[in-house]
Amino acid sequence: MKILVINGPNINMLGIREPEIYGKATYSDLCGMIYEHCEKKGIEADLFQSNHEGDIVDEIQEAYGEYDGIVINPAAYTHTSVAILDALKSVGIPAVEVHISDVSKREDFRQISYVRLYCEKTICGHGFDGYIEAIDYLCERCGL
Ligand code: DQA
Repeated sequence: MKILVINGPNINMLGIREPEIYGKATYSDLCGMIYEHCEKKGIEADLFQSNHEGDIVDEIQEAYGEYDGIVINPAAYTHTSVAILDALKSVGIPAVEVHISDVSKREDFRQISYVRLYCEKTICGHGFDGYIEAIDYLCERCGL
């Protein structure tokens, strides 16, 4: 079982950006937590972060035939990107949408999610644990 975890723009700024919303832990802390969890579960995980929409599309396309599941926090691109939605649809890999904050309780412009139209599940407002829940969901789906 091999999972790809994709994070969009400004997720590399965790720990610095709006700590009252996203907490004080860093992107590197997040990566460590995900690797540790996947190691415990005996699954492989690759992590990718980019501030560029096209690079995220490229990464999703390159995932075709390589991964059993995708965990994606497209960050601000959640609310704007048809290209990321289309890339997910193109590769057909089971995917879960994750948001660290509870976007449902934030600004109106955050209420739209394009990737949600493809993703099997959305996890919002559970902080970093949301990524773990998403990984566990994809594992269960694969009978693990
Ligand atoms: C986010 C929520 C988005 O609205 C925002 O643009 C982000 C992070 C989250 O994880 O809560 O950058 O995806």
